[in-house]
Amino acid sequence: MQSKKKLIAGNWKMNGSLAANQTLLDAIVAGMADAQCDVAVAVPAPYLAQVQAQVSGSLIGVAAQDVSAHESGAYTGEVSASMLKEHGVRYVLVGHSERRQYHHESDADVAQKAQRALAAGITPIVCVGETLQEREAGETEAVVKRQLAAVIHLNGHCISEIVVAYEPVWAIGTGRTASPEQAQAVHAVLRTQLAAASEHADRIRLLYGGSMNAANAAQLLAQPDIDGGLVGGASLKAPDFLQIIHAAR
Ligand code: 13P
Repeated sequence: MQSKKKLIAGNWKMNGSLAANQTLLDAIVAGMADAQCDVAVAVPAPYLAQVQAQVSGSLIGVAAQDVSAHESGAYTGEVSASMLKEHGVRYVLVGHSERRQYHHESDADVAQKAQRALAAGITPIVCVGETLQEREAGETEAVVKRQLAAVIHLNGHCISEIVVAYEPVWAIGTGRTASPEQAQAVHAVLRTQLAAASEHADRIRLLYGGSMNAANAAQLLAQPDIDGGLVGGASLKAPDFLQIIHAAR
């Protein structure tokens, strides 16, 4: 299980500017020469072309933060998987809790988005995670399994091509990280669920996200079923993001 290359993905969320992106990426590219892991940055759609041009030739993969559940047509404001593919996008976040919460994305929507990404040859990073209320009610396992089950159900054996990110909602942007033991416990549940659905489940990378930072990354990444990180705030600061990258080996 530990033999796969870890993946550290930064999620910039709705942050950045042409100038700030260039400065940030220059610093990341310059500092990651000896990185042992895969690295990606999930950037706002208008910056995909800029970022793709700037990271080409480096080890950084470009990720989008969302994709339409539809293939094409009258869906104003949406961006399709094939459009992302044309921009060299390698990964796309689907089902981030901010999309589920603010844009009312259902488990079925998320599954459909994952399917569109896979069909276009883009790796979906499927985000799952419970709210604080759900954790306190003892529902963590049921919630993440329900969220992942929808994706498994629609995508069948293709799920061996996905990445899963466990992001407890209460840990996102709060500075309150899941302990390595809490995160590992949920990752083990997800691993078992994936193993029941695919004989190639051991190749699926399970990322942890939620206030991952330079100080706590190494401990989280040392857990047997944590294969990388999905990093929000700390991915906007080159020294912090680089420290996380170097903790992944
Ligand atoms: P923070 O690292 O800022 O908590 O964000 C996590 C996240 O939502 C990444 O997708």
